[in-house]
Amino acid sequence: MADKKLLDDAKKLAGYRAVEDNVKNGQRVGIGSGSTVKYVVDKIKELGYTDCICVPTSFQSRQLIIEAGLKLSDLSITPELDITIDGADEVDQHFNLIKGGGGCQLQEKIVAHASKELVIVADYSKDSVEFGQNWKKGIPIEVHPMAYVPIIKQLSQAPFNLKATLRMAVNKAGPVVTDNGNFVLDATFQSLNSQHEIEKLNVQLKMIPGVVEHGLFINMTKKVYFGQTDGTIKLRS
Ligand code: 5RP
Repeated sequence: MADKKLLDDAKKLAGYRAVEDNVKNGQRVGIGSGSTVKYVVDKIKELGYTDCICVPTSFQSRQLIIEAGLKLSDLSITPELDITIDGADEVDQHFNLIKGGGGCQLQEKIVAHASKELVIVADYSKDSVEFGQNWKKGIPIEVHPMAYVPIIKQLSQAPFNLKATLRMAVNKAGPVVTDNGNFVLDATFQSLNSQHEIEKLNVQLKMIPGVVEHGLFINMTKKVYFGQTDGTIKLRS
């Protein structure tokens, strides 16, 4: 188990550097979700970028923006963004991302798609050579609540062969409900060996009625900041 302090320091490094390198005051900035993105907001505030217009991807990031005193907007007012900075659960060598560990994949993907550029910030533990090497919980799939059982069944069969389980709240009192009122399935896979297979799955999942969005982010970024244990940054671009 990676040391929590080391991980947190690495998240901070990545979040800070990504803002320093990529954000200018006055830009329209999508704010991702998760523990690493907190440092993105902290840095925007510290640099005094009060003219930045910030669009959140979750209730959590909306709160971060408000608490930092930054300008809050949404896609109906600001439909085009200069940049989005977001975290990830895993990034492989081909910039394939698994996201949605925090259940925010729907709004994260919409906001990233509305941006000229998506920059990812992560600690070293998210850096993978092979797809699925580090993130063992599976691909997060946001589904309409009425469809979760048929979708689990469909995913268990060809061509998917995924073992999907309903994500439960920490106290097990009920399912996790997303900011959009949906459930989340976590779908583990045996092997996704080629880029072609990953890209095929990316499309096939979206074709299932009741699947609202999923946490595969393919061909969406070309810049990832990984904070390292020794205080340096590994930039994949
Ligand atoms: C939430 C996400 C997060 O960006 C992802 O889970 C990474 O989170 P963290 O920065 O806490 O490791 O996709 O849906």
